Amino acid sequence: MYRIHNKCRICSGEEMDEVLDLGLMPLANDFCDAHQEHSGYAPLKLLWCPRCTLAQLSVVVNPNILYYNYPYVTSKSQTMLEHFSVLTGDLMVECGKKSVVEIGSNDGTLLEYFAKLGFDKVVGIEPADNLRTLAKKRGIESYRGFFTEATALDVVDEIGFTDLVIARHVFCHIDNWHAAIHALGVLCGKDTVIAIEVPYFPDTIAKVEWDQVYHEHLSYMTIPAMQAALEGSMLHLSKVTHYPIHGGAIVMLLKRNDCGIQPGSLESPKVTLADLHKFAESQALQVKYLRSTVLSHVAEGKRVVGYGASAKSTQWIQACGFTRKQIKWVCDNTQQKQYKLMPGSDIPVVDEGALTRELPDYAICFAWNFAEEIMTKEKIFKAKGGKWIIPHGEIKIV
Ligand code: TMP
Ligand code: ZN
Repeated sequence: MYRIHNKCRICSGEEMDEVLDLGLMPLANDFCDAHQEHSGYAPLKLLWCPRCTLAQLSVVVNPNILYYNYPYVTSKSQTMLEHFSVLTGDLMVECGKKSVVEIGSNDGTLLEYFAKLGFDKVVGIEPADNLRTLAKKRGIESYRGFFTEATALDVVDEIGFTDLVIARHVFCHIDNWHAAIHALGVLCGKDTVIAIEVPYFPDTIAKVEWDQVYHEHLSYMTIPAMQAALEGSMLHLSKVTHYPIHGGAIVMLLKRNDCGIQPGSLESPKVTLADLHKFAESQALQVKYLRSTVLSHVAEGKRVVGYGASAKSTQWIQACGFTRKQIKWVCDNTQQKQYKLMPGSDIPVVDEGALTRELPDYAICFAWNFAEEIMTKEKIFKAKGGKWIIPHGEIKIV
């Protein structure tokens, strides 16, 4: 199911510092029916390479197990749509406006934006059958499979070099970076712009977003790490833009070395070992705090539920050791997750309407990246006295 990977994926450094050890954890999106066989548990440990400043997991779970029937559907939330609107606007300034390829195109939501903006070649690459079918329904064609040199060659054969290649929150899921960067080079003409969006590790540690650490996220990105990864390749990092989505992300623009434009200077904060130790200490405190808060509410007879069966929610539920006794259910608007059990747990996932139907006393907003939007939407819960627990940074009760 998994293999050990304790050498740095970029520089092959063997002197990796251990940052966080979460023990054995279920796969964060392994939503199963009560009688279905689960994929199992794998170690979840975060390591840090002091040489190139990449953080990575100590294992790689077999991607066929992780992604075969992937329940993560690109969110249609207002927050996400606003991000897509800003992002597409920003990218339009950087590249030609005719053709785009998206790696990990999910259900085609972002590509539909480009189609509406007048791009005439709009193509996805997506391994999950269920997601490609959803994309097709909205008129987006996708190549089947993971992003490899072979897929890149197929795409170039069929549609030539594109103006833009975009990969949102997919690069950190890739094990073999050198192969992926080579394949990007194959996809890239002299004027192509590659936009890679990833969670930004300095934000992850500063805001103690430890729940972003799960088996799908193999790598945790800093700017020097990306530069080290590109060394010796035909690509370079030309620009980095910071966005607030998902608790802090960066979009890195890559261009071919022979594109004829000099890159600007790229500033980045330095991550120290002391920062990493503080992150691990704060993680333990956060877990202790949420656990004791929920246990004391339950002991007083209060009803506690979860909102948003995000991958992050699996991390919290496991780390706190919650069962159905503490958290009655987690509601979520993703049909594929509904009426299944939370990974590694007996807590059921239900539809979003449950919050208003049942009016629990406390709802833990596990989709804290959409907290404002969710709290605005769920007015009745609040009006009837319900309280939100936001497990992000300093855990807040609203
Ligand atoms: P994510 O943080 O990994 O994108 O997951 C967020 C989860 O929250 C996802 O399963 C969809 C769910 N969700 C809702 O159920 N209702 C909402 O209004 C929003 C914004 C998200
Ligand atoms: Zn390294």
